[in-house]
Amino acid sequence: MAVLPGSRLGMLGGGQLGRMFVIAARTMGYDVIVLDPDRNSPAGGLASEHLARDYDDTEALDYLARNCAAITTEFENIPAVTLAYLAKSVPVHPSAKVLHIAQHRKLEKEFFRSLGLGTAEFVAIESETDLEDLGEFPFPAILKTSMLGYDGKGQVVCESRDDLAAAFEQVGRKPCVLEQRIDLACEVSVVLGRTEQGEVSCFPIAENSHAGGILDVSLVPASINDKLAAQVIDAASKIADGLDYCGVLAVEFFVSTGNEVLVNEMAPRPHNSGHYTLDACQTSQFEQQVRMVCGLPAGSTELHTPVAMWNLLGDIWPDGGAPPWGSLLQLDQAKLHLYGKTEARPGRKMGHVNCLGKTLPAAKKLLDKVRKSLQ
Ligand SMILES: Nc1ncnc2c1ncn2[C@@H]1O[C@H](COP(=O)(O)OP(=O)(O)O)[C@@H](O)[C@H]1O
Ligand SMILES: [Mg+2]
Repeated sequence: MAVLPGSRLGMLGGGQLGRMFVIAARTMGYDVIVLDPDRNSPAGGLASEHLARDYDDTEALDYLARNCAAITTEFENIPAVTLAYLAKSVPVHPSAKVLHIAQHRKLEKEFFRSLGLGTAEFVAIESETDLEDLGEFPFPAILKTSMLGYDGKGQVVCESRDDLAAAFEQVGRKPCVLEQRIDLACEVSVVLGRTEQGEVSCFPIAENSHAGGILDVSLVPASINDKLAAQVIDAASKIADGLDYCGVLAVEFFVSTGNEVLVNEMAPRPHNSGHYTLDACQTSQFEQQVRMVCGLPAGSTELHTPVAMWNLLGDIWPDGGAPPWGSLLQLDQAKLHLYGKTEARPGRKMGHVNCLGKTLPAAKKLLDKVRKSLQ
């Protein structure tokens, strides 16, 4: 049965993704209780209620279970046991099982392979002996910690076998995957919603460029041809079906210079590369999350207009001040989103700008103008 406006929803995690979920949910007439230990979390201040407690605080979890009609998350590193605990008494999407897979690069990649999908070649590294036993593994490669990596953190490039020992040392000898480095033609991603009944609706594919391992720009529509686009959509849908997923799911892909589509990773939540939907689509990825979690059908994923999304990182914040927003705010097709974070640090995601245009080149031109005005 659908959870209707007027009900209370639970959000595990209070970062920017939680904040934008809260905005979408409250717009639709839901109340949201946010659980996040950080008193200044971006989502907490906008929520109906903020529990500044740990994710394994059973008192807080019992409170959520008693008071929420459905619970979701914005963050895959919520302990899977927390979700399992809540799921005993209230609908929780995504499930603990899905989170468990998404938390481990190795399990995630094995899962993609089990569906017959292509990934970069990889091998699990758990100890020094695994480093000696690599056979013909192709280099250059990237050593990635299996857990808790994001925005390129916990990754070391290894040009050859000789770099492995130092790289393993550098990541603190934690369980890792060693992954072949792909010659990239481009990177793309898909955000989709899947209902409990198994209906999948994909947002348009985004083409992503990264700087220093962090998403910099997403362009929509992506420049890949129809055949590759169909492969991407098919793979993302297979992953959602294979997980019997309910909620919003994002899947990142590599497109190699040889035109091979390889699955990189997934996120069981809205995704940075889906922020363009806030201004360029009929439904945002956050409204879609509300709909999926509440047992409602998906909203239209249709694109109104081409868009270039630019991430605003803490790097452009002057010491103790704010960037000069004046020129950006004069531009009638540049849409500013800020996450309410008070402390700017290099690499920290502070907000984003969606630059709209009648054509993608026009949207990109506007982005260049915005960038120049802020850097
Ligand atoms: N095997 C690879 N080949 C080429 N580029 C890669 C590879 N793995 C990661 N990268 C680059 O680093 C970025 C971040 O890596 P990713 O595995 O997605 O980790 P994170 O969890 O930090 O997003 C990717 O989007 C891509 O630009
Ligand atoms: Mg990634």
